[in-house]
Order: sequence, then C-alpha cells, then structure tokens
Amino acid sequence: MNAVYERLEKSLESIREKTDFVPRLALILGSGLGGFADEIRVVQTVDYGEIEGFPVSTVPGHKGRFLFGYVDHVPAVVMQGRVHYYEGYSMEQVVLPVRLMKLLGAEVLFLTNAAGGVNYEFHPGDFMLIKDQIASFVPSPLIDPNVEELGPRFCDMSQVYDADLRDIIRKTAEDLQIPLQEGVYLQLTGPAYETPAEVRMVRTLGADAVGMSTACEAVAANHMGMKICGISCISNLACGMTEQPLSHQEVQETADRVGPLFQKLVKESIIRIGEIFDE
Ligand code: HPA
Repeated sequence: MNAVYERLEKSLESIREKTDFVPRLALILGSGLGGFADEIRVVQTVDYGEIEGFPVSTVPGHKGRFLFGYVDHVPAVVMQGRVHYYEGYSMEQVVLPVRLMKLLGAEVLFLTNAAGGVNYEFHPGDFMLIKDQIASFVPSPLIDPNVEELGPRFCDMSQVYDADLRDIIRKTAEDLQIPLQEGVYLQLTGPAYETPAEVRMVRTLGADAVGMSTACEAVAANHMGMKICGISCISNLACGMTEQPLSHQEVQETADRVGPLFQKLVKESIIRIGEIFDE
C-alpha cells in the first residue's frame, strides 16, 4: 500500500477510537474566525495532539482541534486551527487534515481564511467568495507517487470551486444583505507578508486576494473529488496599498470585528448547502 495512505489510515484509526461521527461537510476556520465554534452543537472534540501523525498548529489564535457536531441539522467536522506550510511541515502533513475529513465522510469542503485584498475595489472587512485560485507558488500536495486510493494522477482543475455551491453562497449573502465580493485567491508560502512589488505581481497575475493557506487544501480536496467552496475575509489591504505597515494584530482585529457577520454568512450557507444532502 502507498506509504502516505498507510499513514492516513493510522491517523484515521486514532480518530475513530474517539468518535464514530460521520460528517457530511468539512469546514476549515481561518485566522480569527474560531468563534464559529459557538454555532455548532458539538458532539465530540478531538485535539490534534491526540491524533497519531497529526501536525500540531503553532500559530497564536489557532486552537488546534476537530469539532464534530451539527451546524443546525448538518453533520459537520470543523477544523478549529489549520496547518500552514510556513510552519515547516511538508505538504503531505499540511493536507493530511483535509484528507482525513474526506475519509471520515465529508463530501463538501468549506474553506475560510483571512486574506490581504489586492483588488483596489476591496476594503478591509469585506468578504470574498473564492471563484478560482492560483496555487503555483507553493509545492503541489500531489507531488510524489500518486495515492491511487484517493484520486487520479492527473486531475482536472477546471472547476475547483463548485458553481452550485457558489450560487448558494451568493444567494445566501444576498438574502442576508451581506455584501459579497468575488475573486481569485492566490497562495504564497509566507510567513512574511508581501512586499509592495510582490503585491503588484500578484495583481498582475489576476488575483484579487493573497494569503498563506487554502489553495493547497483545495488541490488535495479536488484530487479526492470533494465539492469545494470558500470565502476569504479581507482583513487588510495588501502591503503597499496603504500608508501603514501590516501586522498580524491588524489581521486579527479586523477578523474579530467582522467575525459575527462572517459566522452568520457561513452558518446560513451551510444550512442551505445541507439541503442538497436531503435531496
Ligand atoms: N498577505 C498574506 N496573507 C494574509 C494577509 C496578507 O496581506 N492578510 C491576511 N493573511
């Protein structure tokens, strides 16, 4: 058996020793968005540290556990704290949680993050529905012998962010009267923020927001045939677009400020996505 898959099975076993919960949707909470945990009727929590082979997040504000439970009536697994490439983990480790959530039963992956706005029409505190991504600046998590148990060697990437899910989120935002931008997310490795020249490069390449996560997770999820959607919380305008230097504190403060509205949008979107499962 493929060595990556063997390691996945070991991690899966240590979760299954703690819970037999079968989620249909997987949600990853980005920086400052951990408050969403309050929206979940939690059945079981599993700390990352309890899972064999699991990389443990080192970023302040990232808690590091899976929550199993219900968002309204939708059975979900929620990652409170994600694993970043800049922490020094291999891409295999970075996408291990996404792969696990699929193997636990999740068919839909809902990605969230805090990101820098690169599009001049964006403002700090805006939400951006991710319509496509650029992952070319980080190594692909699919490099290495293909894990046949998970998906094909060469996978199609023509619609990473599912059009039906995007329609649902757009309609939800409209009904809740929450303004929603739409755009392309580009992942860089971080952990330093970009220089103004890099931000110009990112904009020239066609991206609207820049961050240090998400795209690699979407690559791994797409490989496994998950339906994917994502929303970025534009926590700041990227470097060089304003006078002040950028800090993690600013990112965190904006995410905290708009957190409740973001949670409302994510929760209602999940409830409506859940209706697909009932069809
Ligand atoms: N750049 C990269 N990642 C980020 C930013 C940014 O400006 N804001 C939040 N995450």
